[in-house]
Amino acid sequence: MNVGCVGCHSGNLVGGTMLQLFGVMENYWEHTGSPEIMSGLMMVTGEERDRFFFRVPLLRNVAKAGPYFHDGSVDNLRRATAIMARVQLGQDLDSEALDELVAFQEALTGEIPVNFHAPEGVPFELPEVLKPI
Ligand code: HEC
Repeated sequence: MNVGCVGCHSGNLVGGTMLQLFGVMENYWEHTGSPEIMSGLMMVTGEERDRFFFRVPLLRNVAKAGPYFHDGSVDNLRRATAIMARVQLGQDLDSEALDELVAFQEALTGEIPVNFHAPEGVPFELPEVLKPI
């Protein structure tokens, strides 16, 4: 909350409630090393104002949800956290702050409910409109 992550990752699931710009302070791909630059929501709407908007992922079980970001470009939660602080909030976190944020996120790991079923009918392949240009 002090660092500002909660501005986007909010609500019961610590995220999943909105779409937001990825790259508020700097280009995301310069930090993630993404092999392709994807424009996010704009790939669906064609609207310039939607460029680089992505779903804010929920952070429940995030420690088990890697690799991270829309393209899985970062496989380590500590690095993903440092990138978020830098790219979204313009902050270079020191090692202690990073340790704390990672520990907090690891504490969001729960057991999968016994009645959990993977959603049905979700396309396995990316729809044509979402494929990288
Ligand atoms: C301005 C909004 C915003 C802020 C502030 C923000 N995030 Fe994010 N976060 C996002 C968006 C959008 C994504 C998805 C990016 C993508 O898919 O490429 C994301 C992705 C993530 C991911 C990857 C999760 C996954 O499943 O791939 C983690 C971890 C994360 N954020 C943690 C944090 C932490 C920790 C902070 C604070 C240091 C923070 N975020 C601050 C918007 C934000």
